[in-house]
Amino acid sequence: MSKVATAARQTLGRMAAATTVDSTTLSNYGQIFTRHLDLSWTVDFAKKRIHGESTLLMQSRTRVSEIVLDTSYLDVSKVMVNGAKAEFTLGERQGPLGTPLTIKCGQIAEDTSVQVAIAYSTTEQCTALQWLTPEQTKGRKHPYMFSQCQAIHARSLMPCQDTPSVKSTFRAQVWSPLPVVMGAVPEGADAYERGAVRYKFVQNVPIPSYLTAIASGDLASCSIGPRSTVYTEPDMLLDCKWEFERDMERFIEVAEGLVFPYTWTLYNFVVLPPSFPYGGMENPNMTFATPTLVAGDRSNVDVIAHELAHSWSGNLVTNATWEHFWLNEGWTVFLERKILGRIHGEPQRQFDAIMGWNDLRESVDLFGKDHEYTKLVYKLGTNDPDDAFSTIPYEKGFNLLYHIEQTVGGPEAFEPFMPHYFEKFRNRSLVTDDFISTLYDFFTPRGLGDKLDSIDWNTWLYAPGMPPVEPNFDTTLADVAYDLASRWRRAASAPASEVRKLFSRSDVDKWTAGQQELFLDTLRSEGQGDAAPAATAAAHVKELGDIYGFAESRNAEILSRYYALCLDARATEFYTAIADWLGTVGRMKFVRPTFRSLNQADPELAVRTFRRFESNYHPICAAMVRKDLGL
Ligand code: BES
Ligand code: ZN
Repeated sequence: MSKVATAARQTLGRMAAATTVDSTTLSNYGQIFTRHLDLSWTVDFAKKRIHGESTLLMQSRTRVSEIVLDTSYLDVSKVMVNGAKAEFTLGERQGPLGTPLTIKCGQIAEDTSVQVAIAYSTTEQCTALQWLTPEQTKGRKHPYMFSQCQAIHARSLMPCQDTPSVKSTFRAQVWSPLPVVMGAVPEGADAYERGAVRYKFVQNVPIPSYLTAIASGDLASCSIGPRSTVYTEPDMLLDCKWEFERDMERFIEVAEGLVFPYTWTLYNFVVLPPSFPYGGMENPNMTFATPTLVAGDRSNVDVIAHELAHSWSGNLVTNATWEHFWLNEGWTVFLERKILGRIHGEPQRQFDAIMGWNDLRESVDLFGKDHEYTKLVYKLGTNDPDDAFSTIPYEKGFNLLYHIEQTVGGPEAFEPFMPHYFEKFRNRSLVTDDFISTLYDFFTPRGLGDKLDSIDWNTWLYAPGMPPVEPNFDTTLADVAYDLASRWRRAASAPASEVRKLFSRSDVDKWTAGQQELFLDTLRSEGQGDAAPAATAAAHVKELGDIYGFAESRNAEILSRYYALCLDARATEFYTAIADWLGTVGRMKFVRPTFRSLNQADPELAVRTFRRFESNYHPICAAMVRKDLGL
């Protein structure tokens, strides 16, 4: 290795050292860690609780006399250590980090196994679960419940070491009156009592707590590939089958070719009710997905490619703390774009990168270019990781990997690093410095260490704002969108009747949904500069919607962008439709920006609309919108 490279690594090593401890867990995971977990749960729809028992098989690293676990709004009724009743205390609540559960375990020598059994119940304040009444489901006959644990909500579902640094295998048995899915391999059902069935699951790959997942409701299922099944409410089943069946196995095969074979056996997913707050969540063996993916035109399957890619980046190789979240998401976006690029060609990957760059710029503007959370590796302290969540780790992370790829000589030189990296950290958690040293260890013997030294690591990793290098993405697929946007700009002062003659549906007929989204984004960003008045949008927002059918789009990616233009233009005739639409979507990607824009256009309506739908939103989403609106 070159001298410079060694020096660079040492500096980075020192800087990263301070951030390898997870500041968002209260557990003493440095002294003792969980190796396996047995869950025995009952889903109680009437009380809106999960109750039951967890048995943690732990292993001490040092001598210990106390075990501290994370909890949040849990009722803990009993603790046993190695089969004997143990004393325990629940401490003071520490904001978003919850309440430490301290268990007296006697003197335990180092490197010893300990069995800890805990009986508990979730409570009404549980942030990991949403309970839906029958009226809040499609079928309107049965209740529904589902979990969302990332980043630090697992502690409100079960006592645990809620840090991505600790990974354990698990087995689960769950009693429920309705079908159950978990982030694990299903092992069927084996008992029936008083209206409830006992479902069994096993997870043989060690996973971090944030990947714990459960959903129960009126679920039907059907095959969408040789190793894939989709679950959803019965009346959505055939739409889901059509939406995903064409791509599912192809995605898995391409991903396997890029990294190495899929190790989790099955890749299934469940399409949840609209209040699911994310596009997708990569729960192992069972991705959880928003129903907004089912657009009727397969235009949102990229989200499935993304969640599938997490099977390597995130689920197998995991960020050790949430300050290194980019290792999960930046890598996943990078793999997602590789997968889609293999299928649709390199110009598609370049196009997606352009969209990502625009998202990145928007997020940096929203936080402000000096904000801590615009750094690739940021300091969280004891703050809630949900507050730091944005597209920055996704897109700045993607851009760093893309920049490294370019620097070492392009995809041909970079791609062999992918299986190496994911193999090296398989079943482990790592921080940014581990990634950098692995990169140097791989490329230095190949004579590329000096190339890596040319990267401005400190700025990329630790400086706020946009990346130090503005990439030159290929605009082959983007140009039509830019051109159409400038045609509309030139027509800004033309009367509506003229505009209706100048443009027609055929302008966008053959376009991908992504191109239409870029067109709308371009119109919008032109309207936001200080120099440019929101001319196009303000003058012709109605014509735009009528001519291209944006106002009727079933694709939330398009509809939300169109509504953003309407709100920027203060086109009041759309306000009612926009407010009503906010009652039909729960995915934060759409809900939060739409509320922010509505709040700028008509704050009173924004607050009234939020109050109207508040009880339908997921607790995580409601909390974020409340903050956004300053309530
Ligand atoms: N793991 C994330 C979702 C997440 C992140 C939940 C942090 C809670 C905390 C998931 O993989 C994701 O990134 N979803 C995106 C999909 C998109 C980037 C294709 C989403 O929800 O929009
Ligand atoms: Zn992701």
